[in-house]
Amino acid sequence: MKYVALNPEYVLKNDFGRVLIMTKDPLRTLEPVIESTIHPIHAMILSFFTGKTSFSDAVNEASIFLQTDKDIISSFCTKILENTQNIGVKIDSENILIFPRKTLVSSNSPISRTIYDYKKFNYNSLRIKTDRHYTPSRLTFMVTTKCYTDCIYCYANRKQPSSHLLPFERVKAIIKEARDLGVVSFDVIGGEFFKYPKWKQMLTVLFQHGYNPYISTKVPITKEDVKFLKKIGVKDIQVSLDTLIPKNIVSLIRVKETYVAKIKETINCLEEYGIDVQIHTILTSLNNSTEDMDSLLEFFSKKENIISWKIDYAASPIYEKRTNYEKVKIDRDSLKTISLYFEELKKHNLKFRIVSGNLDLNENPTPNDMTSESKKLYFTKKRPIFCSANFSSLFILPDGKVTICEELYWNETFIIGDLNNQTLLDVWNSSKAKDLYYIDKKRISCKSPCYSCSIFKECREEYGGVCWKEIIKVFGKDKWDYPDPRCPKAGIVNAKDYV
Ligand SMILES: C[S@@+](CC[C@H](N)C(=O)[O-])C[C@H]1O[C@@H](n2cnc3c(N)ncnc32)[C@H](O)[C@@H]1O
Ligand code: SF4
Ligand code: SF4
Repeated sequence: MKYVALNPEYVLKNDFGRVLIMTKDPLRTLEPVIESTIHPIHAMILSFFTGKTSFSDAVNEASIFLQTDKDIISSFCTKILENTQNIGVKIDSENILIFPRKTLVSSNSPISRTIYDYKKFNYNSLRIKTDRHYTPSRLTFMVTTKCYTDCIYCYANRKQPSSHLLPFERVKAIIKEARDLGVVSFDVIGGEFFKYPKWKQMLTVLFQHGYNPYISTKVPITKEDVKFLKKIGVKDIQVSLDTLIPKNIVSLIRVKETYVAKIKETINCLEEYGIDVQIHTILTSLNNSTEDMDSLLEFFSKKENIISWKIDYAASPIYEKRTNYEKVKIDRDSLKTISLYFEELKKHNLKFRIVSGNLDLNENPTPNDMTSESKKLYFTKKRPIFCSANFSSLFILPDGKVTICEELYWNETFIIGDLNNQTLLDVWNSSKAKDLYYIDKKRISCKSPCYSCSIFKECREEYGGVCWKEIIKVFGKDKWDYPDPRCPKAGIVNAKDYV
């Protein structure tokens, strides 16, 4: 018999009168990240596909519970079983519900996944529109600004205004509250997670509440720490590694040459304890050669625990001076050469996946690479990707202040609360948060093209919002109310901010 399940890559979130189907773990998934509103009846039907039943048994049970003809349910479920493309279901003139690729999956053996109680999706009122989530769905906690290395290309603001850290008792309470609110993913970032004094306790509490945070590091952690990770159930970790040519790594992340041996030792130790490693490489002017990539490939090829190798070029940070980024950014010719190097590598039978992040400028154009036609198309309708900041996610700073997106850090315009004396729900429902999301045009300077834009409300609330980080990067902190650089009304932006 074939077992059928709602794909374990997706979760269903109760969101007050509607259900959201969402990627469970955006940082680990192999599928495109998705999020869509679905009808509560769809959610009830999907709940019967537990991974422990056959297709026909699940359809039978759903048909009995919903008192609906089996054939109708079966016909709908057949369309979303192992579907290779997203499937849209139009429910009225405005709303199309999206069922992602492979909504239902089948296997010869039982499939393990969260089981939903279908009765929980039985709402009295219905709210099918795509808009700001009723409660936050994703959190990222920047636990510290401290690092082990001092990477020349780093985008992170590592200057915390005060030395105050959110007390650990509050951290624990926030994790519990997140679980109670149905927050889907809780990730941690730094600085360096392993430089946070309470990293072990925090990881333990996160695992106890069913969270499996994605940890990215450059710290050569010890065998004792690897053993601890193994013990509490960590299955994978991201190691950020840009080259293994000693003289290049010295200037790139400002460490001693001995770092090469130390970080290799850590990867060896993770291999010994059966912890998978995702590698993240950032390309800059200091590691822009195929020799740099060969140095990594040679080592990775000998390892059994490398599962993926993702390569991105360094994007310009908001906080660094433009002149610094100009020295660090990779030139377009080298980017092309390295991009071809990885395309070639993908044809080989490697033990790990190659993920060429933002390397292809045709697929990931900078604003100045976009034609005015494509900018117009992008900005006058619902965008394929919504900005999640303050729409579905929050970013917690080490001192407990809450902002809407990582790179905005302590920028006052975007600080929407403080977890030292507010709950997550208080922050999410605060007037600061809502006034920023449902922003009033009165707050926009008359010098900004957004001020006279006829689709202002749609752009901010229905089409997917703007990327505040990119706006500040291009126009400066004071012009946070200017258009997104990809909007045709932004004009040609300073090319020095991009590769
Ligand atoms: C900000 S770091 C935090 C975690 C940890 N400190 C680390 O380096 O892995 C997260 C990831 O962003 C990458 N990164 C840093 N600066 C970047 C930049 N300017 N552009 C693209 N990625 C960058 C890092 O190499 C790392 O893989
Ligand atoms: S990239 Fe990571 S390790 Fe390097 S300076 Fe930035 S936060 Fe620290
Ligand atoms: S970014 Fe500003 S100008 Fe562009 S569509 Fe949105 S509101 Fe209008």
